[in-house]
Amino acid sequence: MPVKIAPSILSADFSRMGEAIAKLNAAGADLIHCDVMDGSFVEPITFGGQMVKNIRPLTRLPLDVHLMIEHPKTQIKFFAEAGADIITVHYEACAKISPAYLRETLQLIKSHGVKCGAVVNPDTDVQKIFDVFDICDMVLIMSVFPGYGGQKFIPSALDQLKKARAYAQKIGRGDMDIEVDGGINANNAAQAAAAGANVLVAGSAVFGSGDMAAAISALRS
Ligand code: DX5
Ligand code: ZN
Repeated sequence: MPVKIAPSILSADFSRMGEAIAKLNAAGADLIHCDVMDGSFVEPITFGGQMVKNIRPLTRLPLDVHLMIEHPKTQIKFFAEAGADIITVHYEACAKISPAYLRETLQLIKSHGVKCGAVVNPDTDVQKIFDVFDICDMVLIMSVFPGYGGQKFIPSALDQLKKARAYAQKIGRGDMDIEVDGGINANNAAQAAAAGANVLVAGSAVFGSGDMAAAISALRS
């Protein structure tokens, strides 16, 4: 499967977000990954729907909204109306509410005409979300604990990716998008892709480089 690169704007200078989006458009990004943090599910607070709404007219690229928040159901409307193309929600935030909450949230996302996905942390076995693969457009395997950019890739994510890809194939969804997020760089991107990821999130590897286009093509190859 061709690999898609999703730079994370978490690593951008928030006071110059418009410039960052223009650079990503020109540098060959495939999606724009928007990390939403609520100060509760994860320690930091980043931004809400207003940021997505303001970015929307600046790019034709799909906006990939990663919700690291408690009670995600309450926020879906805002991100859908802001122009998200895909919204992903954490298994861990949903499971603490009720066993049905994850599927209900994914259904709610789809009811807005937005693609949906489920996310697992590094210490949550991806098997826990196998029962929602049928409704997911994408699954997201975290390769760091969410909250901060610039962390080191956790190698056990490779096994999670293999299991996710194998299960997707087993249920006839071999072409499903499987995204990996955290610590991805030019040294481990190929390994992640070989394990089954076809969407690679990269914050520091893209924004920390002087040449975004070169960084993105290095990740892609
Ligand atoms: C972590 C975020 C990631 C992060 C990736 O909580 O979900 O998207 O920004 O940044 P790097 O690529 O620097 O690990
Ligand atoms: Zn993310």
